[in-house]
Amino acid sequence: MIDPSILSDRRRRYLQQTGRAVTVLFSAPVASRNSDVEYEYRPDADFYYLTGFNEPDSVAVLSPDADGWRFTLFVRPRDPAREVWDGLRAGVEGALARHGADVAHPIEKLDEELPKLVENVPVIFHRLGRSVSDDARVHAAIRRARSQVKSCFSWPTTFSDPSELIAEMRLLKQEADLGCLRRAVEITCEGHREAMRAAAPGRWEYEVEAVIEFCFRRRGAESWGYPTICGSGPNSCILHYIENSRRMEAGELLLVDAGAELELYTGDCTRTFPVDGRFTPEQHALYGLCLDAQKEAIRAAVPGARFADVHRTSVEVIVHGLIELGLLAGPVDEAIEKETYKSLFMHKTSHWLGMDVHDAGRYRDQAGDSRPLEPGMVLTVEPGIYVAAQSAGIDPKWWNIGIRIEDDLLITPSGNEVLTAAVPKEIPDVEQLCALPSALLD
Ligand code: GLY
Ligand code: MN
Ligand code: MN
Repeated sequence: MIDPSILSDRRRRYLQQTGRAVTVLFSAPVASRNSDVEYEYRPDADFYYLTGFNEPDSVAVLSPDADGWRFTLFVRPRDPAREVWDGLRAGVEGALARHGADVAHPIEKLDEELPKLVENVPVIFHRLGRSVSDDARVHAAIRRARSQVKSCFSWPTTFSDPSELIAEMRLLKQEADLGCLRRAVEITCEGHREAMRAAAPGRWEYEVEAVIEFCFRRRGAESWGYPTICGSGPNSCILHYIENSRRMEAGELLLVDAGAELELYTGDCTRTFPVDGRFTPEQHALYGLCLDAQKEAIRAAVPGARFADVHRTSVEVIVHGLIELGLLAGPVDEAIEKETYKSLFMHKTSHWLGMDVHDAGRYRDQAGDSRPLEPGMVLTVEPGIYVAAQSAGIDPKWWNIGIRIEDDLLITPSGNEVLTAAVPKEIPDVEQLCALPSALLD
């Protein structure tokens, strides 16, 4: 659980930006999987960032009052009969005692209490357009406030979306955020190191997936931040391959993209390595090229550089190398201009990382230009090269080689810190770790 003082500091910093306004944040709904089975509950990241409250059917309201601000939580009330089935609830008592709420109500009271909280407040911050039922409840509250002619002289006439304000706060990580993120990344790294030991000819992709997720859970990660990708041979060329159902063979690469989630912060790391522990000459050449591009892109990710510079750097290195190896027609400038490289490197190099794997935060500045990097931002650097079978005009010796190398970077005042440095990526180091037997599989 996040320290309540960190949460109240986040709310204070958020409220400094909203002026005299009321903010209403709805928690994420429970998602049905099948029959009576639900998906594991995952709080909405914005809601959790400001409340630290992880139960469904809850609503947070930040509203002005005589002393400044009031934090009201609407929550599921205690219900011993239900708690036998679904586990303990904080209830109104817990919301007040442990979650920093100034006022708490059972969620059933929302439609009665929300109109009072929006009375005589000119602006409402609500994430309009995300949920028809949440929108309807906010509209109903305003309708009701308008009808209270004795107490209500005005009501919100301006709707604003709090997403961007919260996104900007989430983007610039504070010490508390980095503490959680570092721990998630540390666990992520352990999973990847074990994966390198676990892969072997004859083993199944799902065995490697199981080893990774065993490591995550054993070290206290709540879950993964996105489904684990273990793609061998042809599957290494499928960017978001999650079936993990193929038997691996000698001579193939295995691409593993996995991240542990802790306190909603997630790691996001990819390594690609030979199933039998030795890169073939073609794999060696393309892996070396991807690694050069990644390292060059990491060098470019410094304060003041623009987000797009990181991608441009990796594109330049990869395009140059692919032309030299005969996989792409030159010249370099034309391949970049016409984006012909996109048949082999079709995604971008980076995204923000934090409470969501593709985290909140604008990628452009007010002028519409790519955004300068600042200390406290965390982004991935993950160039890739994917030569699927039947790639037109490419010698079959290159087919079924898919490579992505992904690290998580914290931008620091003097440059950057590679948070995922504990997972080897240099060829001799990767081969050495792959040669070790797995302690977890027979
Ligand atoms: N694992 C998803 C991504 O790398 O963007
Ligand atoms: Mn990523
Ligand atoms: Mn990834």
